[in-house]
Amino acid sequence: MQFFLDTGMVDEIKQALDWGILDGVTTNPTLIAKTGRPFMEVVEEILKLVDGPVSLETVSRDAKGMVEEGKRLAELGDNVVVKIPMTPEGMKAVQELESEGIPTNVTLVFSPSQALIAGKAGASYVSPFIGRIDDTSGDGMKLIRDVVQIFNNYQIETQVIVASVRHPMHVVEAALIGADICTMPFEVMKKLFQHPLTDKGIELFLKDWEKVPGRPF
Ligand code: E4P
Repeated sequence: MQFFLDTGMVDEIKQALDWGILDGVTTNPTLIAKTGRPFMEVVEEILKLVDGPVSLETVSRDAKGMVEEGKRLAELGDNVVVKIPMTPEGMKAVQELESEGIPTNVTLVFSPSQALIAGKAGASYVSPFIGRIDDTSGDGMKLIRDVVQIFNNYQIETQVIVASVRHPMHVVEAALIGADICTMPFEVMKKLFQHPLTDKGIELFLKDWEKVPGRPF
């Protein structure tokens, strides 16, 4: 499973790169706004750091506008993926951008039928938002199971990005299902490393190490 960070924060990206577990980045207007920094400045820094796919979102409502924005975003780097919302106009834009070799990521997907449409439109990626479904008493992970099964049934090559991730078990369950990618907040990525028994175990081993005679280090 590939790990993406869902962030606009350059420091978080640097830390994940340092850990050696970062495969890509997803952003959206909310995440960029949270940085409080100018769009181009943030995006250029991210693109300089990250070799893998970096999703940047369009904001137009019509296909023409999305295609225009998508082309401008794609010029910023070879690894730019244009994020397009799941609407009929969006799917027109996906077909046009993909036909010109610009990869797209269909965002704001909340149902298997929407994911199937994105796959039929030829999107490179689709992003089902599981946390927002859980927030409304739904079952976000069921959506991932359904989408993965549908894509397998028809050998649809669109990669599934599990999005709107809230905690480590979302990542683990998505991996068990076999989703291609999980995009997660930095805090969730950090938690993937953690277990209280690991900390306790290290403490005990270090204490006992002090009792070992002739320690080489
Ligand atoms: C995905 O690409 C989105 O940026 C993101 O996962 C949305 O998550 P949220 O529900 O935490 O805003």
